[in-house]
Amino acid sequence: MILPPVIGHRGACGVAPENTLASFRRAAALGAAMVEFDVRLSADGHPVVFHDDDLDRTSTGTGPVAAQGLDRIKTLDAGSWFGPDFAGESVPTLDEVLRLCLDLGLGINMEIKPDAGREGETGRVALDHALALWPDNRPLPLISSFAWDCLEVARATAPEWPRGLLVGAIPADWRSHAERYGCKAIHADHRDLDAGRVAEVTSSGLCVLAYTVNDARREEALRGMGVSSVFTDFPHSS
Ligand code: G3P
Ligand code: MG
Repeated sequence: MILPPVIGHRGACGVAPENTLASFRRAAALGAAMVEFDVRLSADGHPVVFHDDDLDRTSTGTGPVAAQGLDRIKTLDAGSWFGPDFAGESVPTLDEVLRLCLDLGLGINMEIKPDAGREGETGRVALDHALALWPDNRPLPLISSFAWDCLEVARATAPEWPRGLLVGAIPADWRSHAERYGCKAIHADHRDLDAGRVAEVTSSGLCVLAYTVNDARREEALRGMGVSSVFTDFPHSS
């Protein structure tokens, strides 16, 4: 698996409203080769790119994303909370984000964020949309999720697409989980990473990716441990 050293977290969420088209454009302008984003479902089953369960923090909506239909979600402003320059940014659909990333030449890490009980549905819908849009001649999307059932769906739906086991701290039994879901990478919270565990994982042929790293010295230290890529809110060329 070929990975760039830097992955833009939710686009470039340190300098633009997370998971908006503006954020992905900004990530590309800053030199990122790849971006991470979060996918969840609207009440009527459409995949949208949005991090939180609830609309309140990063849009003009209130309550769960999963309680609103796509038509209603598309009327919301997902940019003003970040700053007036971004007023009018909408919550993008997955298709809009995929098309923009293709236009911008960005690789993608699609993180699937299902509501409890909708793991299978969310995984299937997200993969179906991505498979329909993503051409064969582009680097394969990297699929990750804290909800590991979604990785099972990804494995069944798009077996060739690489999968990352998303964790906080790397668990002692990481190997069995990685094998079960056919993962090529482990995506871990950098605050819980240590050189020994990184070496254990990389020596078995898997990559370690670290989130969310916004400090250049920490980034360098993680690379020294053998971390392949860092997710950062402030993407830069590398
Ligand atoms: O995928 C890495 C990172 O995005 C996981 O945490 O909460 O930012 O989605 P979160
Ligand atoms: Mg994420």
